[in-house]
Amino acid sequence: MRLDILVLHGAKLRYGCVIGVLLIGLVSASVVSASGSVGSKGMVVSASSEASRVGLDILMAGGNAVDSAVAVGFALSVTYPEAGNLGGGGFAVIRLPTGEVMTLDHREQAPLASRPDQFLDDSGQYDPDKALYSHLASGTPGSVDGLLRLHERFGRLPREAVLAPAIELAESGFRLSDVLASRLRDLVAGVPDRPATVAKFSTPSGPLKGGDLWRQPDLARTLRTISKEGAAGFYTGWVADAIVAEMKRGGGLIAQGDLDGYVSVWREPVHGRYRGFDVYSMGPPSSGGILLVQMLNMLEAFDVASLPLGNAELIHLMTEVERRAYADRAEHLGDPDFWPVPQQALTDTDYAAARMKSFNPERASSSDDVGHGLVFPESEQTTHFSVIDSDGMMVSLTTTLNSSFGSQWVVPGTGILLNNEMDDFAASAKSANQYGLLGNAANAIEPRKRMLSSMSPTIVMKSGQPYLITGSPGGSTIITTVLQVIVNMIDHGLDLEAAVRRPRIHHQWRPDVIYFGPNAISPSALEALRAMGHELEQRPPMGDANSISIHSGVFTGFADPREGGAALGY
Ligand code: DON
Repeated sequence: MRLDILVLHGAKLRYGCVIGVLLIGLVSASVVSASGSVGSKGMVVSASSEASRVGLDILMAGGNAVDSAVAVGFALSVTYPEAGNLGGGGFAVIRLPTGEVMTLDHREQAPLASRPDQFLDDSGQYDPDKALYSHLASGTPGSVDGLLRLHERFGRLPREAVLAPAIELAESGFRLSDVLASRLRDLVAGVPDRPATVAKFSTPSGPLKGGDLWRQPDLARTLRTISKEGAAGFYTGWVADAIVAEMKRGGGLIAQGDLDGYVSVWREPVHGRYRGFDVYSMGPPSSGGILLVQMLNMLEAFDVASLPLGNAELIHLMTEVERRAYADRAEHLGDPDFWPVPQQALTDTDYAAARMKSFNPERASSSDDVGHGLVFPESEQTTHFSVIDSDGMMVSLTTTLNSSFGSQWVVPGTGILLNNEMDDFAASAKSANQYGLLGNAANAIEPRKRMLSSMSPTIVMKSGQPYLITGSPGGSTIITTVLQVIVNMIDHGLDLEAAVRRPRIHHQWRPDVIYFGPNAISPSALEALRAMGHELEQRPPMGDANSISIHSGVFTGFADPREGGAALGY
């Protein structure tokens, strides 16, 4: 079979060997580079060229966007172990050809034996090692349940067909890119005392190198069991036994009762209108959708299009909007099954207007003064991928282990890396987590509660027609990345590639600093912002917004060059 893949533009740094894989190892495709692609029948954009390839093959074999997304999700656990996972969790926003939009929360849960103070040391201080790299860091994984539930409800191909490519990649192996090989070497060098992690991510004779064929036989066996038995193959049986045994050995909390009790939850999307576009994103336990809609509501009152990109006035406005939304996040957002999240109030346009009353176009507000709004209760790795098929079924899915390679503990014999998502809870009202985020009772640890997320898989519709699928990794910067992609397209009229490429800025209330990526702010704008009273700090590039835009029936996919990945369509 020959694929008709149209590629938009030039090579990217990490693609030397990945392109080699595409051309040699797989179906003959007219791929020269894979960061941008156009098509009209289907499109898959992910952070891994092998996983995007899997998704495209599934579409071409008659699968729909959900089959493709589920196959990509499992493939990423093999080819993008930094964040692709079986031992983590995520969120999906799905738009059906009928126009209905729904979301699936498959976020990890705190084990039953968790305690609110489990990450505090004897003096009440947050202990990042415990929260991030101990067995206590792991929540009960949701990915396998989530992907299979998605597939069960909307997939068209048999389960075995969507798992087969991941099994094959794990069993027969794939060629490592230089980037992934170097990440694996760094990982292994940092955990000499974790034999299962060392064994999975190196060879008996030493470290892996770019170009090596990397096989993961244990992971292949786990995936094969899931393929045969469904979710029971992960949450019960030998895989579950291995997880529970590793938890006992390492002082972790996940027990069989936690695995037995895990269920993904179908939830209503958060919906907002922005300049006539309909924005659908993930609701709590992610903060993404609410903050996105809240920030768009605040921006709508301003003539954003008249403020040139990179200009101090625009960055000031975006910062003040972000400051106010993130202050609310810290106070009001948490798992809605445990905490009355005031979703209606926070996404109300009058509330947005009230919040911006204190906005001064010439001066930075202070985060001390802004605080959180008084609303009343009503009754470092993640990955995002986007898929659309010829019927207009759209999947926007963000998944994670939290940090790169999660807690860095592999469950012996299974090839499964465990998440360190428990750090997304607020360890105490005063302790910021690894992203510097603060939280309160709304996001305190409680048994079976889901930790608050920033993941924001998003779908935007224009007059009822597909317009954009986007989302990103980046911890607390996820929401502002998604916001900027949307504003870049809707207000500034950029095409998808330019909207995604554009350098980003970020403010999250506390710390009271504008973070900016390389080349995001000109020296004169920097000076103007400092004169307004802002503190600014340059950071590495933020986000990896693997997105698809849709215009007149044509799908344009673009893999964010910040991470490298592949957009493949036909
Ligand atoms: O759910 C969250 O918000 C975080 N655990 C996401 C982690 C992340 O994006 C790391 N990526 N760079």
